[in-house]
Amino acid sequence: MKIALFISGRGSNMDAILASCQAGHIEATPALVVSNKADAKGLLAATAAGIPTAIFDHRDFACREDFDRAILARVQQANIDLIILAGFMRILTPELIKPFQGRMLNIHPSLLPKYPGLNTHQRAIDAKDTIAGATVHFVIEELDAGPAVIQASVDISEQDDAGSLQQKVLEVEHTIYPLAVKWVVEGRVRLQEGKAFLDGEPLPPSGVRIEA
Ligand code: GRF
Repeated sequence: MKIALFISGRGSNMDAILASCQAGHIEATPALVVSNKADAKGLLAATAAGIPTAIFDHRDFACREDFDRAILARVQQANIDLIILAGFMRILTPELIKPFQGRMLNIHPSLLPKYPGLNTHQRAIDAKDTIAGATVHFVIEELDAGPAVIQASVDISEQDDAGSLQQKVLEVEHTIYPLAVKWVVEGRVRLQEGKAFLDGEPLPPSGVRIEA
């Protein structure tokens, strides 16, 4: 199976997935890294690993659909089976999402359905939540709303601010994202009729839940 990773910045989730592929835990070939930013730090790691990279600057396109169609053409040219959004900061349209239905994953730094969108850590602190976390989910047209595969929680302490909480959550992201990708690559996790299944059994709305 050929996978593509989409990034906009640091790429630490991409690194975790590439390491899992290299270690043979995920039996897939990272065949393309897409970024909408030419200066995304993660591009350096991708290039060092010998993975082809493609930069699509969204400002070069008249609309989101044109941007997505250009990316789709590149992804199809590389025969990609699975798209992994790893900190890709553009909202995608059905132009790209539809052809990759059930074959596109995202990681979001909250316990979805709580806090879709941005500033998740600050919002959790402001709400005086005692736990936060991250969710790996299939991508559907509605933002951050696709069926969850895995969700991991962390405790929020009274000392936490958005920065420290982000660090804690990022650590669990690096565990759950490679695992979710592995399950999808192995065909153990599937999206069927709008629901996520693991080994043929429907998953709960949280996906597999890993507690702090
Ligand atoms: C992560 O917090 C992820 O949950 C969110 O974007 C961030 C990407 O970080 N979607 P990195 O680029 O993988 O380090």
